[in-house]
Amino acid sequence: MSCAAGEPCEEGGRRRRALVVLGLMGAIFIVLSVASFLDSRGQVTPVSVSYAGFDAVQGKRVFQAYNCMGCHTIVGNGAYFAPDLTKLYGRVGPAWLEAFLPSAGSWPTSTAVALQLRDAATAGEAGAASIDAYLKKYPAAAERVERRGGHMTLMPNLPLSRNEVRELIAFLKYSSAMNTEGWPPTPRVAGLAVAKAALPAAQAATVPAATATAPPSATQRGADLAQSTGCMACHSTSGERLVGPGWGELYGSDVTFTDGSSARADDAYLTQSIVDPDARVVKDYVPHVMPAYAGVLDAGQVADIVAYIRSLQGGQP
Ligand code: HEC
Ligand code: HEC
Repeated sequence: MSCAAGEPCEEGGRRRRALVVLGLMGAIFIVLSVASFLDSRGQVTPVSVSYAGFDAVQGKRVFQAYNCMGCHTIVGNGAYFAPDLTKLYGRVGPAWLEAFLPSAGSWPTSTAVALQLRDAATAGEAGAASIDAYLKKYPAAAERVERRGGHMTLMPNLPLSRNEVRELIAFLKYSSAMNTEGWPPTPRVAGLAVAKAALPAAQAATVPAATATAPPSATQRGADLAQSTGCMACHSTSGERLVGPGWGELYGSDVTFTDGSSARADDAYLTQSIVDPDARVVKDYVPHVMPAYAGVLDAGQVADIVAYIRSLQGGQP
């Protein structure tokens, strides 16, 4: 196309203007594209995140192997049966997760969380050495301990090893560090109408009536201690296997250990099992799962718990 002779010709000018605008648009497009990539450059990757020496990539495999997504959502994926886990690590901290994941059927008490802090790696990752500092730093953990500690949970008891627990925490640390642009959204509720839900206690610690051998007070104290210390997260009062062996019919029975040896479950054995559980590990169980209670419970408290375990045997010492 060209201008007819003698007429004012505007076409060349229009074409130049169109080209300049097009070039400007192109430049804006490129600048915006680059800027959007710059934003995601600082993003964490699973390879760059580890927890206490365990890496997040391995944790992702464990997460998939146990099909956690069959119930939970994470980074927008998964099922809506259980709470979203994306930002949980940052809110409850590692010690609470270390106490929660291996426990069967109940929510961690503050003693259970405090025990985890005795591990230098966990305390280091948490950035808090005492339970008070920890609960202050992670209010969501404090809330869970206060509202639900010792109560029943709907989370199934998964046979996680200690390493798998730490790998899972590495993975949750990774998802927590991701820039999810505000996902998941915080529900806007003006507090809960009920102050505290009436939840069923886990493994209701029913204390048998006074027996000739166990003064009811020691047995009762032992039952309360077992509940508040978090033993019932891993032990049942029947013969049922949870994370650890059941306590029903334990007293006076013969216990076989991983090394093939065996011993009678008397006061001395039970006491050692509580203060130093790795000294002799029950056959078909693994060490380092049960925390050592030396320095957590004093001798009198251990004796009370032993009295309680003895009472579960039906009163025949
Ligand atoms: C069969 C369903 C199911 C599976 C599978 C499952 N969970 Fe859960 N989980 C739950 C439910 C239900 C809760 C909430 C428990 C309650 O409120 O008592 C929960 C709670 C939790 C919590 C505490 C959440 C919070 O906000 O306090 C964590 C952490 C957790 N699960 C991690 C995991 C991990 C890790 C896996 C896989 C190894 C897993 N879960 C597999 C059902 C499941
Ligand atoms: C995180 C789970 C967990 C917690 C919490 C826990 N235990 Fe254990 N417990 C185990 C496991 C696993 C074993 C078996 C391995 C072993 O012998 O160390 C065990 C073994 C035992 C045994 C020996 C049982 C037998 O059949 O010979 C006793 C007794 C015991 N625990 C008492 C306690 C007391 C008391 C508490 C609370 C103060 C407690 N446990 C807290 C997991 C736990």
